[in-house]
Amino acid sequence: MSAPSHIPVLLQETIQALAVVPGGRYIDATIGGGGHAAAILEHSSPGSQLLGIDADPAALEVARLRLPRYGDSIRFINDNFANLEAVCLKYDFFPVHGILFDLGVSSLQLSDRGRGFSFQQDGPLDMRFSPDQEITAADIVNTFPEAELARLIRRYGDEGRSHRIAHQIVQQRPIKTTLELAGIIERAVGRPRGRIHPATKTFQALRIAVNHELDNLEAALRQTVNLLGFDGRLVVISYHSLEDRIVKRFMQEEARGCICPPETPTCVCGHSAHLRLVNRRVIIPSPEEVSSNPRSRSARLRAAERLFSQQEIGESAPKLFFLARMAASQIEQESDSVEEEAKKCEKQGSARVF
Ligand SMILES: C[S@@+](CC[C@H](N)C(=O)[O-])C[C@H]1O[C@@H](n2cnc3c(N)ncnc32)[C@H](O)[C@@H]1O
Repeated sequence: MSAPSHIPVLLQETIQALAVVPGGRYIDATIGGGGHAAAILEHSSPGSQLLGIDADPAALEVARLRLPRYGDSIRFINDNFANLEAVCLKYDFFPVHGILFDLGVSSLQLSDRGRGFSFQQDGPLDMRFSPDQEITAADIVNTFPEAELARLIRRYGDEGRSHRIAHQIVQQRPIKTTLELAGIIERAVGRPRGRIHPATKTFQALRIAVNHELDNLEAALRQTVNLLGFDGRLVVISYHSLEDRIVKRFMQEEARGCICPPETPTCVCGHSAHLRLVNRRVIIPSPEEVSSNPRSRSARLRAAERLFSQQEIGESAPKLFFLARMAASQIEQESDSVEEEAKKCEKQGSARVF
């Protein structure tokens, strides 16, 4: 059986931004259909390893079908990337040469009507990446008070007509399917003018809320700094301004050295830069890519490289120990305790920082 396809976005730009090297260790935090993962493995063989994470077990299955030829070089993990450190500790997968996030929803998920991501075909109002999540889009649509619904649609969808849409939703409840909801939105705000369907922004808002997408992204980005080795690269592809703003702010803050107020005569903060921006400007797809894959049109790629201060190099062993201690509260350990793992890291000391 051949796996359905998802065309990876900004593929060459991603490989270049990750500065993929043979024998490297990489994390694809959103492996999806496995397109980026396959290219990373192609460019980093022989001897490379890739940890492929996805919250969606169905997406992981597709990636498994697509990538059998990489055998033991690739490990598939069904988890949320908000648990990145814990996953890497569990599989002893750090430090790494590169981490990729290709955010949002894949074409495979969009085209599966049963997942409820698309307003173009009928399906249940679900929108969860993982079946383990409790709250679905239907729960939000059918239970949130009108004002809260309007706020959510405004905030996560940047929808100016959020009050009108929320009012109509509340009037028409209960709403069960994607086409029912899309019809209600269309009646609330009028027929589509231009290319964008009137339900686009509300569907985006619901998906972000259902999956806590912005919180998970912020949590995951913070953890990348502890996992990247010398010159390790962080690459993030985002698809809307809310995500891109988080990525941009994170990279800029981590690229700053002293963060004392300008009037402070000498530095008292002790803050040092952990990242260097690889590109000053955001990378966007070429017109050719957009015309062959319209889904890529809103993609924004940002990349940064890990920097280590002299002090950090000296502290690498205690830092890993601290990392393991943090993880101890998160991971259900089997026989080997995380303490042992941490001691092993401590013994290896800065050899762990390649
Ligand atoms: C745009 S697709 C990735 C496509 C992939 N790069 C490829 O080439 O096929 C995004 C994937 O990220 C997954 N995802 C979204 N949020 C996630 C999260 N918080 N944790 C783990 N996976 C997540 C989705 O389930 C989806 O499969």
